[in-house]
Parts: sequence; structure tokens; C-alpha cells
Amino acid sequence: MKKIFIKTFGCQMNAYDSARMRDAMFVHGYQETNNPEQADILLLNTCHIREKASEKLFSEIGRLNEFKEKRKQEGKETLIVVTGCVVQAEGDEILKRSHLVDIALGPQNYHRLPELVASYNRKKGRVLLADFPADSKFDYLPKTKATSATAFLAVQEGCDNFCTYCVVPYTRGCEYSRPASDIIQEAKDLVATGAKEIMLLGQNVNCWHGQGASDLGDLIRQLALIEGLDRIRYTTSYPSKITQNLIEAHKDLEKLMPYIHLPIQSGSDKILKAMNRQYTAKGYEEIVASFRKARPDIAVSSDFIVGFPGETDDDFQETMEVVKRVRYASSFSFKYSPRPGTPASIMKNQVAEDVKTKRLMILQKELMEQQQEFNSNTVGKILPVLLTEKGKKEGQLVGYTPYLQGTHVSLPDSFLNKIVMLKITKASATSLTGVEA
Ligand code: 5AD
Ligand code: SF4
Repeated sequence: MKKIFIKTFGCQMNAYDSARMRDAMFVHGYQETNNPEQADILLLNTCHIREKASEKLFSEIGRLNEFKEKRKQEGKETLIVVTGCVVQAEGDEILKRSHLVDIALGPQNYHRLPELVASYNRKKGRVLLADFPADSKFDYLPKTKATSATAFLAVQEGCDNFCTYCVVPYTRGCEYSRPASDIIQEAKDLVATGAKEIMLLGQNVNCWHGQGASDLGDLIRQLALIEGLDRIRYTTSYPSKITQNLIEAHKDLEKLMPYIHLPIQSGSDKILKAMNRQYTAKGYEEIVASFRKARPDIAVSSDFIVGFPGETDDDFQETMEVVKRVRYASSFSFKYSPRPGTPASIMKNQVAEDVKTKRLMILQKELMEQQQEFNSNTVGKILPVLLTEKGKKEGQLVGYTPYLQGTHVSLPDSFLNKIVMLKITKASATSLTGVEA
């Protein structure tokens, strides 16, 4: 059997795309390997969201080429394939700058990988596909299989919001929602092959507006009817487009996990406006309050950008104040990174790097303390933990609580992929430890 090695960068959507490329290649007789020396195809699935994406890519290509060269000496052929958002943004540049890349595919074309590999002929020229085809790639993808008890399922892709700092509307295109019937079928396939938890993915997941359900809340209600599916999650949500029905679903459905990732980005209305985010800090806090009313124990997480152009000390202070009021269970925070082609990258009043660094440190200190507090509050509680991974040490497993806290426990491998009730004995800012209850 031929083998493919896949290295994935970036978000969960990329992890999903990598899994679907693996599925597509599997149908064509390829097996996945984690040893690049054995791979007939070396694939890099790239991310363009923040800076140094292409530098990182070129150094990765150089590293993979060492395996290709070694294999060449053994008389074996190897293809280097690059996919993902860097290709969408800089495909021509990649082929120009690196003669080592054989095939470059944007995120809307990855379903064509098997056919391109089969017909590939280096002499005829290397291949770049980075257009937005009119038909949906989802219609061409084969049935999927779960590889662990937790699975990703893309329900929506692309973005029409055009936040002024973000490349996603350019790399992933405009919003597209898959029909409910396709999503439900894929979820059933995942459950039939071992998934107990499904994470619904979309760049703006709550903007889902496909056929067969009235909104994401309704779609989740339909998915919750699937027997054997124990947990449903979704990410990433856009604050002002949350529906009451989605909020209510957290009250009505036990299978819908008490966790909402709701990126605020900034607590300053002036900065939110410059970012083209369609809400105010107050509006955001009201949405969080509605979730907490429906599900008082819900864990709230967020993304933050510090040092957006024009952000003053006062603006940053407003972010800190919102953070102190909201109290987050977890979070991701970044220094603003100017992305080529985005409106914010050419705004005047860019913030100095050392100011960004200082603000990020202050914000992350506060967020870490909140995360520690959230985790500490679960000590002594008995929580259902879905054990999905082996721990670093023999006899240890790692899993996730409903609040998405990584939890370590000493249990044999026979407990893998099961939901086990654990009594939480210890909490750090980043993980929990438990014993079987
Ligand atoms: N600079 C810094 N952070 C960014 N993000 C998106 N674009 C940028 C950028 N240009 C962050 C946002 C988003 C997360 C996925 O990445 O916080 O929510
Ligand atoms: Fe980017 Fe904004 Fe769209 Fe999110 S909502 S993908 S941050 S443009």
C-alpha cells in the first residue's frame, strides 16, 4: 500500500480538511503514516492567519525534502504537496520560490488531490489549483471514518464578515453552509465508526443557514437525536449572530456541552468598530449573560487581539475591564499581526511591537489566573470525562470534561474512548487530575 504523511498547521478546520484528504487518498489505496521516510506523498496543510506563515512553510519544505532526497537515493519517488490557506493567498509565490513543491492546492480544491496525484507528471509541469469552484467540494468527498471518540465535522465554511485584520474571507471565500441531511449522514457515519463526541466546525459556525434546519440550534437539536452520539460541541461563534434558539439549546439538550467559544477580540468599542466587528462590548456581555442564564455553569472562552492599529492604553484598559467582568474558563490571545491585503495592515497608527508584547503579557497573566480559578472550582467535583488519548506515561489516559478541561487519570488502556466518571483531585491552570469515582 502506498503511504501519505500529513502535517497540519493552524485551526481545527485544517485538522478536519487533513482528515478528509486522508479519507480521499484512502479510497485510492493510500494509508496514512507518521513516518515521513516511508511516505510516497509528503503533505503540508498550511495556515495563513498570523505572520511568518510562508517562512515557516519554506523551512518545513526544506526539512521534508531531506526525506525526499534520501528516498530518491533508494530509487523511490516522493511528491511534495502543499495545501491550505497559504496556497490560497500565495500559491504562485510558493511554486516560484520553491522548486521542491509538486502540487499546491487551495482549501476549496483539496477533493481533487487523488486525481492530481494519479495524473501527476513533473515534466508536464507542477500543479497549482487555488480557485473557488462553483460546485461544493463536500459533494466529492468519500464517506468518512472516525479515528478517535472525538471527531470534527465541518458544517459551514468561509466568512462574509470581513473583520479588517483577517485573511479568512480571502482564503476560505464567502460563507457556505452544508445541507442538514449531509451533516446528519456524516455524523451517523462518524458515530457508526466510533465517535462519541462531535465538534461542529465553521469559521462562523452560528451563521450556519443550510437547508433542512432553521439555524445552528435547530441543526444541533436534530443531531442530538442520533443514538450513540453523547456529546456535541461547536466552534467558532460570532457574537452578534447568536440566536435565542441556540442559547435555549444549551438548556434543553444534555448532549450539548456547556462550553461556548465566543471571541470578543477587544473590549473597546472604538477598536471593535475599526475591526469591523458588529457588536459593542456591552452587547457582547449581554450575550454571555444570556448563555449563563440558560446554562449557569457554561464555560466561556474567547480570542483576543492586542495592539490593533490605534489601540491606546485606555482602549487596552477597557479590554482588561471586560475580561475581569466576564471571567473566562480559557482563551487564546495574540499580538495583532498585519496581514497582506487586509484593510488593517495599511491603517496608520500601527502599535509598536514592544507595546503589543507588554499588553499581551498583562492580558495573559489575568487570563491564566481566571483559567486557574475556573479549574480550581472543579476540584472535588465528579465529572464525566471522555478519555480520548494515552498519557505520556504507561497506564495514564487523558480526556476532556464537559467544560473542555484536559484531565489526566491513571487507568488502563481498556478505558480509552469511554466516558468515565472521575473525581477531580488536582487543578493547574492548564489541566486537571482525577481518579475514578
Ligand atoms: N493578527 C492577530 N490575530 C489574528 N487573528 C485573526 N487574524 C489575526 C491577525 N491578523 C486571531 C483572532 C481570531 C483567531 C482565530 O485568530 O483572534 O479569532
Ligand atoms: Fe476572520 Fe472575522 Fe470572519 Fe472570524 S468573523 S473568520 S475573525 S473575518
